[in-house]
Amino acid sequence: MRFGHFDDAAREYVITTPRTPYPWINYLGCEEFFGIVSHLAGGYCFHRDARLRRLTRYRYNAIPTDAGGRTYYLRDGGDYWTPAWAPVKRELDHYECRHGMGYTRITGARGGVRAELLFLVPLGASAEIHRVTLRNEGRVRKRLRLFSLVEFCFWNALDDQTNFQRNWNIGEVEVDGSTLYHVSEYRERRNHYAYFHVNAPLAGFDTDRESFVGLYNGLHEPQVVVEGEPRNSVARGWQPVGSHAVDLELAPGEERSLVFLLGYAENPPDRKWERPGLVNKAPAREVIARFSTAPQVDAAIAALRAHWDGLLSAFTVRSPDEKLDRMVNVWNPYQCMVTFNLSRSASYFDSGIGRGMGFRDSNQDLLGFVHQIPTRARQRILDLAATQFPDGGAYHQYQPLTRRGNHEVGSGFNDDPLWLILAVAAYTKETGDYAILEEQVPFDNDERTRAPLLDHLRRSFEHVLSNLGPHGLPLIGRADWNDCLNLNCFSETPDEPYQTTGVRDGRTAESVMIAGMFTAIGPEWARLLSHQDRTAEAAQALEAVRRMERAILEHGWDGEWFLRAYDFHGRKVGSRECAEGQIFVESQGWCVMGGVGLGTGQARQALDAVAARLDTRYGIMLQQPAYRSYHLELGEISSYPPGYKENAGIFSHSNPWIMIAETLVGRPDRAFAYYRKLAPAYLEDLSEIHRTEPYVYAQMIAGRDAARHGEAKNAWLTGTAAWNFVAVSQYLLGIRPEHEGLRVNPCLPAEIPEFTATRRCRGATYLVRVRNSGGGGRARLTVDGRALDGDVVPWARPGAVVKVDCVV
Ligand code: BGC
Ligand code: NOJ
Repeated sequence: MRFGHFDDAAREYVITTPRTPYPWINYLGCEEFFGIVSHLAGGYCFHRDARLRRLTRYRYNAIPTDAGGRTYYLRDGGDYWTPAWAPVKRELDHYECRHGMGYTRITGARGGVRAELLFLVPLGASAEIHRVTLRNEGRVRKRLRLFSLVEFCFWNALDDQTNFQRNWNIGEVEVDGSTLYHVSEYRERRNHYAYFHVNAPLAGFDTDRESFVGLYNGLHEPQVVVEGEPRNSVARGWQPVGSHAVDLELAPGEERSLVFLLGYAENPPDRKWERPGLVNKAPAREVIARFSTAPQVDAAIAALRAHWDGLLSAFTVRSPDEKLDRMVNVWNPYQCMVTFNLSRSASYFDSGIGRGMGFRDSNQDLLGFVHQIPTRARQRILDLAATQFPDGGAYHQYQPLTRRGNHEVGSGFNDDPLWLILAVAAYTKETGDYAILEEQVPFDNDERTRAPLLDHLRRSFEHVLSNLGPHGLPLIGRADWNDCLNLNCFSETPDEPYQTTGVRDGRTAESVMIAGMFTAIGPEWARLLSHQDRTAEAAQALEAVRRMERAILEHGWDGEWFLRAYDFHGRKVGSRECAEGQIFVESQGWCVMGGVGLGTGQARQALDAVAARLDTRYGIMLQQPAYRSYHLELGEISSYPPGYKENAGIFSHSNPWIMIAETLVGRPDRAFAYYRKLAPAYLEDLSEIHRTEPYVYAQMIAGRDAARHGEAKNAWLTGTAAWNFVAVSQYLLGIRPEHEGLRVNPCLPAEIPEFTATRRCRGATYLVRVRNSGGGGRARLTVDGRALDGDVVPWARPGAVVKVDCVV
C-alpha cells in the first residue's frame, strides 16, 4: 500500500495522508544548522551538535508518537485546527506534505482556508525559515488568528531531559517587538541564545509553556488557542516557549504570507550585552534583516535549489527503470549527504544525545558523498585521521563540536583503521588531490605528534599486521564492523555496555571479516604507494595481502562458505559445525571483494551459500540460524531476539557488499535482484509492511525469524546509503573512478538494455552511453569515437566533455 508518490521532476516525495505507517521525516540544513521535520511538522533543530546546541525540545518515545515540533494553530471563528493535521487532528479537507531537497512543504485546508507551511534552512544562516501562507478559498471574508509554538530546549539535550531540579529554575526570555529571545544560562557561561521572529506586528505572545498550554491540557487543546487569547506571558523558570499571535483578515481569494525565523546566535564574550542586563541582539537582527520578506525567502529557496542542482549533477543516470533513476539521481545521494552532515547522531531512531561521529561510519559515509563535496570530504578525512592513535588504532567516535575523541568508548575496534585507507583511496581517485597524503595530521589531536597523512595510513595497515591471532587472521578487538559480535566481552551483568566491557586486549579471537577487508583494502594501500613511487613498499604490502589470502583459504574457509571468526576459546563462529549462527554475510562479501577464491571457485560457492541460506524476499539476513539463547562468548549479538538487528535481521548495510561481490563473479541478474529488494523506491507498494520512508534506506529490516518480517527500523542514518550508492553507481552501472582514469564496466541484467549517464569528475564531464546484452560480459569502449584498450578512460583535462560509448 502507498501513502504518497514520487514527484521526480520536483525531486520531492509527496505524502498524501497524515496517517503514514510511521512519521516520515526530512532534514533541513546542510552547513551548520540542522532540523529534522516530519510530515506532521514534528521534530527539532540544533546548531552543529544535536547534543550540545539543541534549540528546541523533542520527546522521543512520546504518546502519541511524534508529538511536538513546529506547531502552527489557526483560529477561524469558533474553530481551531492545525494545517499539519497534528496535534489538533481536526479532519482536513486537503492534506499534502512534500519532502524535497532540504525543505518541506506541508499544506492543509479546512473550512475554506488553505494553509501552506514551508520549512527550510537557508544557506549561510543558522536559522530555520517557516513561511506560512494562508489563502481564503471561500466566499466570505475571513478573520483569522494564527498562533505559532516552539518549545525551547536548555541547549544540552541530555541534561534537558534529566536534570529537572536545576532546569526548572533557569528559564529566561526577552521579548522585543515581534521577536522572542530564549536566553536561559546566557547570564553565566553561555554566549549563545535562540530567537523566534515573525515579520508582522503581534496581537500578543507567550513565552511560558504552562500559560500557553495549561497545566493539564495537551498540545491538541492549548488553553490560549482554545480561548483565542494570548496571555503575554514572560517565562521565569519552568519551561520557556515561543508563541506569537498574529491577526489576519483575508478577502475571498486573498492570500498572505508570514515569515517566521527560528535562529541561533552567538556573541563574542566581550560583546554579550547591549547594556547591562540586555542581551546583544545584533547578530539575530542581522539574520532577521536578511530573511524577512517574501522576495528574500524566494531567493533563499532558489539558492537552495541551485545548491542541490550542483550536488546532484555530479552523477546522473537515465535508464528505462524510473525507480533506478530516482534512487541514483535524487534520493540515494541525498541520503548520503544527510549522513555526511549527521553521521549517526540525530534521526527518529538516534536521539542526538548518544553517539557523535563514528570513525568507521564516517569513513564509509565518505564513499557516498565524496563526488558531491570533495572539499568538505577532504576536511572530514583530516578530522578523522586526527583522532587516530600513534599505533594506528583510532577513537571509535568523536564529538562534532569539539572534534575530540570520545573517551568513554575509546578504541579497540580493529576494523576501524582500514576504513581510513578506503576513504582516502576513494578521495584521491575522485579528486586527484594526492597532496592530501602530505598533509601534517596529529595523532589523538596532539599537535606535537603531527605526521603526514600517508604515515597515518601506513599505521592503519600495520595495525592489522601487528594484531594477528593464532591463525594468522586479524584479532577482532572489541568488535569489527559487526558491533554486536563481541568476542572478548563475556558480560553477565545487566547494564554493562557490550562494546566496552571485558578483555580489552583479547589475543585469541580473530575476525575473518577484517581478514577479507585486508585483502580488499590492502591493494588500495599498495596502489596509493605505487602512485607515490614507493614501489618496494607497495610490493611488500601486496605480499602481506597474499599471506592474508592464504590464511583465509587455510583457516577461514568452512567448506561451502567463509567462516566469520574464531572466538576467545579458538572455536569457530559462522561454521556448519555451529548449532546456530552457521553462516554470516560479512565475511562472504569482504572475502569476495578482496578476490579470495575468485579463480578457485570458493567465491561463487560462498555467494551461492548466501543465496541459499540468507536471502529472503526483503533482503539478505545477517546470519542464520538466528541465536535463540544467550551466548556469553559472542556478546550483544545473541541478546537480540531472533530476526532483529545483528541477530539475523536484514542488516541493510551488508547487502550491497553481496551485490558488489556478485558483479565481481559476473552475475548481473543476482546483483540487480538484491539491489531491487532493498532500494526503497521499489518498496513503495509495501509501505504498510516496510513502514519507514519509501525514499531512504533503513539500517535494519526484520529478518525471517521475526514476527514482523519485512518491517524496517532506523531509517536515514546508516552506512547503507553510501554502500548502496557505491554498489549501484560503481558496480552495477559500473562507473568508477580509478587513479588512472574513469572505469566504465557495467554489470546489469538484460532488463536494463541501455542507459546513459553523466559523470563529473576532476573538472571534466563524461557522457556515457551503454548498450547492454545482460550477460555481464566484457565492456568494449569507444572514447570520442576511438576504440579504447581496456575499460579505463584516461582522465581528461578540466573543462573537457568526453563521450564514452560502451557495449557490454
Ligand atoms: C546496535 C548496533 C550499533 C551499536 C552501537 C548496538 O546495540 O545493534 O547496530 O551499531 O549498538 O552502539
Ligand atoms: C551500526 C553502526 O553505526 C555501524 O558502525 C556498525 O557497523 C553497524 N551498526 C553493524 O553493527
